[in-house]
Amino acid sequence: MAGAYILGIESSCDETAASVVYAGEKMISNVVFSQIVAHQPYGGVVPELASREHLKAIVPVVRKALTDAGQTYQSIDALAVTQGPGLAGALLVGIGYAKALAFALDKPLIAVNHLEGHIHAVLLEERQKANREMNFPVLALVVSGGHTHLYLAERHQEHWSYQNIGHTRDDAAGEAFDKVAKLLALGYPGGPVIDKLSTHGDPTAVNFPASQLKHRDRNEKATSGEIQPRFDFSYSGIKTAVLRYVEVHDMKASIEARRQALASIQKPKLEDYLLHCDRKTLNLVASFQRALVSDLVAKTLAAARACNVATLFVTGGVAANNELRQRFEHDAAMEGLPVFFPSRPLSTDNAAMIAAAAYPKFLAHDFAAMDFSAEAGMVLGRTAVGD
Ligand code: KG4
Ligand code: ZN
Repeated sequence: MAGAYILGIESSCDETAASVVYAGEKMISNVVFSQIVAHQPYGGVVPELASREHLKAIVPVVRKALTDAGQTYQSIDALAVTQGPGLAGALLVGIGYAKALAFALDKPLIAVNHLEGHIHAVLLEERQKANREMNFPVLALVVSGGHTHLYLAERHQEHWSYQNIGHTRDDAAGEAFDKVAKLLALGYPGGPVIDKLSTHGDPTAVNFPASQLKHRDRNEKATSGEIQPRFDFSYSGIKTAVLRYVEVHDMKASIEARRQALASIQKPKLEDYLLHCDRKTLNLVASFQRALVSDLVAKTLAAARACNVATLFVTGGVAANNELRQRFEHDAAMEGLPVFFPSRPLSTDNAAMIAAAAYPKFLAHDFAAMDFSAEAGMVLGRTAVGD
């Protein structure tokens, strides 16, 4: 059957999401229930809490996705669910519910890698804009709270294949945003707040040296035997550098004052943050973002050049960042490289990307066996080097 309505379900982290997508190219509905409020008091995602919140939200979220799409459980053609990577308990809620629905409705079920989902968020929206001309190979930077990964993506008719040519050796870029925000009492998640505050600070005020990796960009043998360079990232150093700056410049008292002031505001707005951030903090935040963005853009473009790619995708939660988008757009254009991002709502976790990634698998009858389970550390494609 060509063309199909697929109900996607995503529950890998702190968003319970469901969506109906037609033929991998038309988003009919997209429901995202964010658990941010539940995790905010802890300054990060609490796994047990995430599972419980998913359990509470999954049925109404799926029902709303169907209603918004004018579909019913019976009218959809297939179900798709995130298998991993992510929090095991959180993934199991989505998988358990998707399996139960597939069994009761006697519909095929497709297991999707979350990272492949982020890549297909770009493809879904480009197809929606009727842009079907995509030149290969594609280099995809998946940059989120859990990942900073570079993939070479190829399409062979309906089948997609991926090769990982680089990843973070320690913290993911989004994790660095979140940890720095926590350290500076700017709340959770850190990316959106730092993004907004950065425009109010001087990005050249604090000099963060670029991350130095041992064996950086080394050449290693791929499993197939060809030589592939690696393009790894590292963001734990910059987080430590921010901590050291805070200590050296006696910022602890002002951070504590901000923590208390913001705690009394239920949903702090940008003006509230600005009111409680001095110039030193704004400059620090802007400099941190500039350093991280520069590193991400420089390494990704170096990989794009070395692999001679025709197209660049930048996707995942951090792809929502304004400075990151501007820098990629500017620097990639200088090299004549087309760069594509998802819209901001589809940059962060959602289920439309899961339903879109499932469509080629639907066409290939690549259905999940009913005994499949969550894979917290699931990898995507093959790796250029076995590390
Ligand atoms: O893709 P995502 O929703 O979930 C994961 O798969 O991790 O990404 C969430 C991450 C968080 O670390 C969050 O701080 C970051 O994306 N993020 C941003 C922005 N919006 C979300 N980072 C920088 N700037 C933003 N505007
Ligand atoms: Zn994600």
